[in-house]
Amino acid sequence: MKIFLDTANISEIKKGASMGVIHGVTTNPSLVAKEGHKDYKSVVKEIANLLPAAAPISVEVVSETVAEMVADGKRFHSWAPDNVVVKLPMNGEGLQATRELAKDGIRVNMTLCFSPNQAILAAHAGAAFISPFVGRLDDIGQDGMQVVRDIVEIYEIHGFKTEVIAASIRHPLHCTQAAQAGAHIATIPYKVLEQMLKHPLTDIGIQRFLEDWKKSGASNQ
Ligand code: E4P
Repeated sequence: MKIFLDTANISEIKKGASMGVIHGVTTNPSLVAKEGHKDYKSVVKEIANLLPAAAPISVEVVSETVAEMVADGKRFHSWAPDNVVVKLPMNGEGLQATRELAKDGIRVNMTLCFSPNQAILAAHAGAAFISPFVGRLDDIGQDGMQVVRDIVEIYEIHGFKTEVIAASIRHPLHCTQAAQAGAHIATIPYKVLEQMLKHPLTDIGIQRFLEDWKKSGASNQ
């Protein structure tokens, strides 16, 4: 399972990329607004320069008609053609725009997916990625990860090539479960990346090795 960072924060992307564990980035209008970015284009270009070549960067449209979605998607794609994946909402207009953009070879990430049936439609329309939102389903008392499991199973049975991005990830257990479910990707907030990395026994172990080494007076020069 690959890891995308779910953020528009440049310093978080720099830190994640420098560890070599980030395969892409997803943004959405709320994340961009949170960082106070005014120029989406320059942010996307800066992110592209921080990531490995051709790493996917999801850029979300805020338009509502098919024509606007397609025009916005083409414009976003031109900013960083090797990287930009157009993020479109899971509705009728989004499906039509997905079909149009896919015909031109532009990859689409269909977002706000909450059911296996929506994921089947996204795959037929030609979406490169589908983003089931785990945390938002959990928030309303439904089992978000079960939707990821169902989509992965259905895509495998029917040979769909659309990749499953477990999105709306809230804690490290979601990452483990997404990997077990066979999600191709989990897109995670930077805080969750830090939580994945940390273990108290690792910290205690490092401390103990350092102390024992100092006490021994040994040299490694
Ligand atoms: C990513 O593609 C989604 O926009 C994001 O994971 C949504 O997360 P949230 O439900 O925590 O806002």
